[in-house]
Amino acid sequence: EKDLGADLAKVLIPEDQLQAKVRELAGQIDGDYAGKDLLLVGVLKGAVMIMADLARALHSPASMDWMAVSSYGSGTKSSGVVRILKDLDTDILNRHVLIVEDIIDSGLTLSWLVSNLRSRGPASLEICALLRKPEAVKTEIGCKYLGFDIPNEFVVGYGLDYAEKYRNLPFVGTLAPHVYGGDKA
Ligand code: PRP
Ligand code: MN
Ligand code: MG
Repeated sequence: EKDLGADLAKVLIPEDQLQAKVRELAGQIDGDYAGKDLLLVGVLKGAVMIMADLARALHSPASMDWMAVSSYGSGTKSSGVVRILKDLDTDILNRHVLIVEDIIDSGLTLSWLVSNLRSRGPASLEICALLRKPEAVKTEIGCKYLGFDIPNEFVVGYGLDYAEKYRNLPFVGTLAPHVYGGDKA
């Protein structure tokens, strides 16, 4: 057991529920992409855990590539400014692309990414996101594969960070308000 310490308020989604959901999503993706050459695009760094677990839960071969974009910096609030820190190595023209993300918060990151990738001419483009905050969404995103809708609280773990910490927790938890200085998230 990991020590929650004083920084986490509670466990929101325990490890076994995360893993069960990942297997469920992988089953849907296996069915939908049967016979197709699938390229998973993980969004660094938050998507590392869901990407690694989802890819291993798929039964058919899939390619993996990564983009690094950042909209949060070290704060708790989306700036809406998306920067490409690392682009894909793959030409996605005529490829079946599935973006893999840890969370849709405001939706600004994914809405920007979808239009960016769509302009590159993929055969298909869909989204798999582990978490979504319906109360925080500012831009509607068509997410075909969704893990959980969650309340509008600051969550960490399973890839999600606060100031680069907590990504390595195997579960999703909520951060205690004293850690980020009140309820500004
Ligand atoms: C986080 C998260 C998503 C994005 C969601 O990434 O991993 O990518 O914010 O927020 P939005 O829907 O409001 O745009 P972040 O920019 O913190 O980078 P990281 O993945 O490296 O933590
Ligand atoms: Mn991210
Ligand atoms: Mg982050």
